[in-house]
Amino acid sequence: MITLSLAEIAEVVGGRMHDIPDASAEVTGPVVRDSREAGPGSLFVAFVGERVDGHDFAAQVVEAGAVAVLGSRPVGVPAIVVDDVQAALGALARHVVRRLGTTLVALTGSAGKTSTKDLIAQVLRRKAPTVFTPGSMNNEVGLPLTALTATDETKFLVLEMGARGIGHIRYLCELTPPKIGVVLNVGSAHIGEFGGREQIAQAKGELVEALPPAEEGGAAILNADDPLVRAMASRTKAKVILFGESGEADVRAENVRLTDTGQPSFSLHTPSGASDVTMRLYGEHHVSNALAAAAVAHELGMSADEIATALSEAGSLSRWRMEVTERPDGVTVVNDAYNANPESMKAALRALVAMGKGRRTWAVLGKMAELGDEALAEHDAVGRLAVRLNVSKLVAVGGREAQWLQLGAYNEGSWGEESVHVSDAQAAVDLLRSELRPGDVVLVKASRSVGLESVATALLETGAEGEVAAR
Ligand SMILES: Nc1ncnc2c1ncn2[C@@H]1O[C@H](COP(=O)(O)OP(=O)(O)OP(=O)(O)O)[C@@H](O)[C@H]1O
Ligand SMILES: [Mg+2]
Repeated sequence: MITLSLAEIAEVVGGRMHDIPDASAEVTGPVVRDSREAGPGSLFVAFVGERVDGHDFAAQVVEAGAVAVLGSRPVGVPAIVVDDVQAALGALARHVVRRLGTTLVALTGSAGKTSTKDLIAQVLRRKAPTVFTPGSMNNEVGLPLTALTATDETKFLVLEMGARGIGHIRYLCELTPPKIGVVLNVGSAHIGEFGGREQIAQAKGELVEALPPAEEGGAAILNADDPLVRAMASRTKAKVILFGESGEADVRAENVRLTDTGQPSFSLHTPSGASDVTMRLYGEHHVSNALAAAAVAHELGMSADEIATALSEAGSLSRWRMEVTERPDGVTVVNDAYNANPESMKAALRALVAMGKGRRTWAVLGKMAELGDEALAEHDAVGRLAVRLNVSKLVAVGGREAQWLQLGAYNEGSWGEESVHVSDAQAAVDLLRSELRPGDVVLVKASRSVGLESVATALLETGAEGEVAAR
């Protein structure tokens, strides 16, 4: 964070100062919402949550060195009091970002935001200091908190933007106006809440509407392979840069294949040259993510060779996304239990099959949440795909949706024990513990709410000191 006095902060957020002996006292950062992160120079943002009221920690954070509290009522220690804490936090982020003048890159999409954001950051930081969203903090609180970690040295600020409805991305873009906007895909994540794919496209496209015109450096980076994203070109004044495997893409992948270990390899083509990439990440879906990152980096002046090297060396910075661990007994566990939607389920199954060539492959799958009316068809389709790809064993875990998944596999022609349904994670672990053989590859994947990472964790415990090769 840049240094700001309490008087300046109060002015920016339109707040009243309470119990502040010295308004010139300076906040040097960080701005935190978790009292345990408060330290010398910090500003503590007090939210009233359902179970916890941040204001209750006011004395404690000041004791820990926080300069003041930004909250909605006086708390007996230095505080800036506002009516709406979230709006105040947003206003502060907007002010700081404007003053910093860093190049702001924002990205959204249905699947792959965090993976792509991590790739963009790992490429850009080779060129200049880069600050980016930690994990998946992509909402109206996480985004401004991330932006506020930028300093005078920060050249690039890379922000993940999430949306649960119309207007959300527009709001986030007002807080931290991007110069470069990336839209990855319009899938079916949260389709139930949105009401349909067109609505999702409408919401995601707000990002490109918010970009400055081409003459001012605005660039919209769009997935040429996704028709709903491609169509967003008409909604922006920014320069349009297309990425994808389609021939019309400016930044393109050719000769895409998965290596025997399930890692994508391709030749990267940019308007200023080509170079070969072999990724450390697993699964073909990362090709699209890598191209998006390459398009951003190319726009910011990096060469094809620099970009290809960075993409080939990039690892996974966020957990439970195709995290591959070899057990000492030769069983490979692929933990992709962070989340699931139809697109990522299919990509993960393909990666499993590529990694498991000549070995037995297990897909331990659970429900994909928030699919609304499409839930039955989508679970059925995943079950069928597992059979078509020749996954050796499908274990569907959980309630109704898991049953649909297993039934899909059965109807597609899986035999006897090739696909089973079990009621919960423990039952899956019991089954796997008795059935797994050295050399097997196990994919574990479901929506976050299912908590299937416990299966992956249990499998790794079974395998004694399996070294976690977090990628
Ligand atoms: N381009 C892609 N297409 C389909 N699935 C993808 C893609 N990129 C990543 N995935 C998969 O989607 C899941 C979520 O990935 P990631 O966390 O990167 O997405 P996200 O958009 O940030 O999700 P969230 O909305 O939860 O923040 C993971 O299982 C990942 O392997
Ligand atoms: Mg995310």
